[in-house]
Amino acid sequence: MNFQEIFGQEPTIEASAPGRVNLLGEHTDYNDGFVLPTTIPQRTTVQLGLSGDKQHHFYSENLDERVTISQSDPTPSGFASYVFGCIRLLEKEGYTIPAVNVYVNSFVPMGCGLSSSAALEVAMLRALRELLNLPLDDVRLAQIGQQVEIQYAGLNCGIMDQMASSLASTDSMLFLDTRTLERRVLPFPAGAEILVIDSGVHHELAAGSGYNQRRAECEEAAHLLGVKALRDITDPQVTESLPELLAQRARHVITEDNRVLEAVEGVSAQRFGELMNASHTSQRDDYEVSVPAVDSLAAILQETPGVFGARLTGGGFGGACVALVETGKGAEIAKNVLEHYNSAGHTGRVLVCPEL
Ligand code: GLA
Repeated sequence: MNFQEIFGQEPTIEASAPGRVNLLGEHTDYNDGFVLPTTIPQRTTVQLGLSGDKQHHFYSENLDERVTISQSDPTPSGFASYVFGCIRLLEKEGYTIPAVNVYVNSFVPMGCGLSSSAALEVAMLRALRELLNLPLDDVRLAQIGQQVEIQYAGLNCGIMDQMASSLASTDSMLFLDTRTLERRVLPFPAGAEILVIDSGVHHELAAGSGYNQRRAECEEAAHLLGVKALRDITDPQVTESLPELLAQRARHVITEDNRVLEAVEGVSAQRFGELMNASHTSQRDDYEVSVPAVDSLAAILQETPGVFGARLTGGGFGGACVALVETGKGAEIAKNVLEHYNSAGHTGRVLVCPEL
């Protein structure tokens, strides 16, 4: 069903925003560190119109779910929490938001670590910015999106996903310092392209997951080491003074920041791939955010000819692997990898491949 069929009117505004895939720099953003995402071709679209009554009406095409809510109602759950959160936070910023009809349609795969929620937040905020001519730049938009995630979805996340969705593009990498928000747009390593394969294991990050716990562990490690954030340490040996679990967590973050900083020095695709492989090992062994199926997918990718490197991408606990592969070989590699991976009973699938 389209906007007209649901709401009996044509939409006034349409805006969209992409999902992202992070190439290097995982779980570094809430440690004030460095990240290196790019966007994926799949986008989330939001259409808006003024509602005829005093209530907001939200519809998700993907879920075929309709939610009606008044300004004073408590936060709803599911997709509506993000949509409502955007409205609420803009109101807290001092803007008056009229009652709206909102139609959401997403092509960003959900539960795969590709930031479907950031895409929804940025698309919704873009739509409201356009509808009401709000004086918000793309960075401010990302910051509000991050607050929606924290305050309305309970995920104590960093700023990477919303910055990537708001500012990055599919044909380059966005190198971002999450402390200062300084950034550089960089080309992919020469002769390489991006392949993203879903492990088939759904990831769920929100409140109650290991994600918030990891963040708390990092903050405790930084406190014990006497720094504002783990970003302020470059030598992983410093972590040896910490209790073992905190040492592991801090070691991942510090070495991961170092990997990003090396990768943006214009290294070859081969070296970039080695850094991705090392990132996977660090996420698996030190940060413990991988799961066996994802480890097996990453290992198969890493052993396949034409693959420079591969790793778990996104928040973890399931989701997708990103690989850097020889230009033009993505489709063939994906076919070989999936034959092998799915023969063990998994439900892997290609999510991003330039040739498909
Ligand atoms: C999620 C969060 C991000 C980031 C990644 C891990 O996607 O939303 O802020 O922390 O996990 O790198």
